[in-house]
Amino acid sequence: MINGGKPLSGTVQISSSKNAILPIISACLLTADECIIKDIPGLDDVFVMCDLISSLGSRVEANIRKRELYISTPEITGHTAPYELVSKMRASFLVLGPLLARAGKAKVALPGGCPIGTRPVDLHLKGFEAMDAQIEYGNGYIEATARTGRLKGSRVYLDFPSVGATENLLIGAVLAEGCTSIENAASEPEIVDLANFLNKMGARIIGAGTDTITIEGVDRVHGAEHAIMPDRIEAGTLMTAAAITGGDITLRNVVPEHLKPVTAKLLEAGMEISESLSEIRIKGVPRPFPLNIKTHPFPGFPTDMQAQFLALMARAQGTSVIVETIFENRFMHVNELRRMGAQIRLDGRTAVIEGSENLQGARVRATDLRAGAALILAGLAARGTTEVQDIHHIDRGYEFIENKLQRLGADIKRM
Ligand code: UD1
Repeated sequence: MINGGKPLSGTVQISSSKNAILPIISACLLTADECIIKDIPGLDDVFVMCDLISSLGSRVEANIRKRELYISTPEITGHTAPYELVSKMRASFLVLGPLLARAGKAKVALPGGCPIGTRPVDLHLKGFEAMDAQIEYGNGYIEATARTGRLKGSRVYLDFPSVGATENLLIGAVLAEGCTSIENAASEPEIVDLANFLNKMGARIIGAGTDTITIEGVDRVHGAEHAIMPDRIEAGTLMTAAAITGGDITLRNVVPEHLKPVTAKLLEAGMEISESLSEIRIKGVPRPFPLNIKTHPFPGFPTDMQAQFLALMARAQGTSVIVETIFENRFMHVNELRRMGAQIRLDGRTAVIEGSENLQGARVRATDLRAGAALILAGLAARGTTEVQDIHHIDRGYEFIENKLQRLGADIKRM
């Protein structure tokens, strides 16, 4: 429940990255040794991933006060990622790579549709086939087996730089026989964090963060300690919250380099931004300038920030155009934002937004994680009261978002 209209001000600490920690937890399956993951974010998706690897043989302990996870997997005792988990959280599919690498076989449910598109996994599977895995389909599951018991290094070209496929193949290639190169690989910062963790475990990976990653397979890897990178999407969301309310906030624990595409657009919209090594300060203006945005793989504008910018542009002084190129159905928030008075025309993957001075509070429904964040932002700027329902979507990826916003002066509470 949000009473809008208060400019945000103050300082906020950014949590660690959801999208970085999920593949890293999965990568712990590669070794029997203990791995220590530090600075964990307290997010529903993290707990789901821990449950999943526990069902595969991992022992997972959490020290919530120290924000640490201790994971060891003496042996792989299960090989199946069930539909209940994969349909709830698509990142569950990332256990395929480590299971194939360590145990030579895996059975993983096909993710199927999700609110933001069909999201196929063909690139993951083509990659593992190139690495000599046999893939069979049946009853909604894929069963993958390394033909000789061990994956074989290979040249894998991705038709699209998929984040998940790059991560899955990267983890799988660590224990493969020989050298693997992933070409047209995703270059998101979360891939670099994963590769850094794997290298600490004894993997031999170069090129993460570029479009070609080379992995020299090793016979075994060992335990490692790793602190997760800051969440660039949480940071971008809070920057947009400052922008939409005309506020002035400072974010701590950020990597400004990761936020370049977001910062560039906020500057273009008229915000004042200053950066130091791990902090960003953003000062808003009464109404932003309109923008043209197209989502792209990193270092392009992130699809995970599209919904929040759409909310921001609903208050712009003019007409904005946002084109979504990554997911085919990622405009579920548009109908909800219209209920708050936003003027948006949709044509396929393009949204045209006529900015208006005021949004109005309304009862709206979060349809997915970032759509939910966009509705909170709209509520912070709107006149009157906004009630956002189905906030479990938001809890998947934002840690105590209402507490962070309250500390910045927002009138928001969880009912
Ligand atoms: C990850 C992020 C998600 C982000 C997305 C794009 C995690 C846990 N999630 O999702 O927040 O929005 O990257 O930056 O890190 N595709 C195929 N075939 C495949 C794989 C993907 O066609 O085998 C398509 C997808 O349908 C989608 C596009 O490629 O249209 C991007 O998907 P991908 O980069 O794989 O996203 P995820 O890893 O699922």
